[in-house]
Amino acid sequence: MANTVVESYPPTEHGADDPNRRDFIHIAAATAAVGGVAVFAWPLIDEMNPSADVLALASIEFDLSKVSLGQQVVVKWQGKPVFVRYRTPKEIAEAVKDDNAPMKDPATDASRHKPGKAQYLILVGVCTHLGCVPNFGLGDYGGWLCPCHGSVYDTAGRIRKGPAPLNLLMPNYAFTSDTKIKIG
Ligand code: FES
Repeated sequence: MANTVVESYPPTEHGADDPNRRDFIHIAAATAAVGGVAVFAWPLIDEMNPSADVLALASIEFDLSKVSLGQQVVVKWQGKPVFVRYRTPKEIAEAVKDDNAPMKDPATDASRHKPGKAQYLILVGVCTHLGCVPNFGLGDYGGWLCPCHGSVYDTAGRIRKGPAPLNLLMPNYAFTSDTKIKIG
């Protein structure tokens, strides 16, 4: 079952370290791993509300080679957006540096990714306040900013400011090869 690129929005003119870039890559890259259901994902612009036409796949596979350094792909899993982010060394260093900073929902950076895979952050892209979809590259910590009430998440997806009570959730996922993950 082939993956299909629907739309891409790479951080071309600003470079991978520009915190203001809007690096939404829109790729239909979810391969059904259960029941042979059709492949799909969907384009995102600034905000996105999972809609009723979502097909809730129990699990999906995703090929991480579709994501370039400093970019983010959003795939749909069980009706929710999942951020697949290929973090830069700078993003990782900033997250690790803050491991012991005061936080509402304390977590080390290492607890936010699989061992040896610090570059890949896999997060449910739903704000833990009231469910809006945060935008990357905004906010004081170089991570995500929720457009609804201003919650700020850092480059590990940890809540750092605003009303959201919890870090962005991590879906259950596993690496099935060096470059492929199965979510769900
Ligand atoms: S829904 Fe994100 S801050 Fe309220």
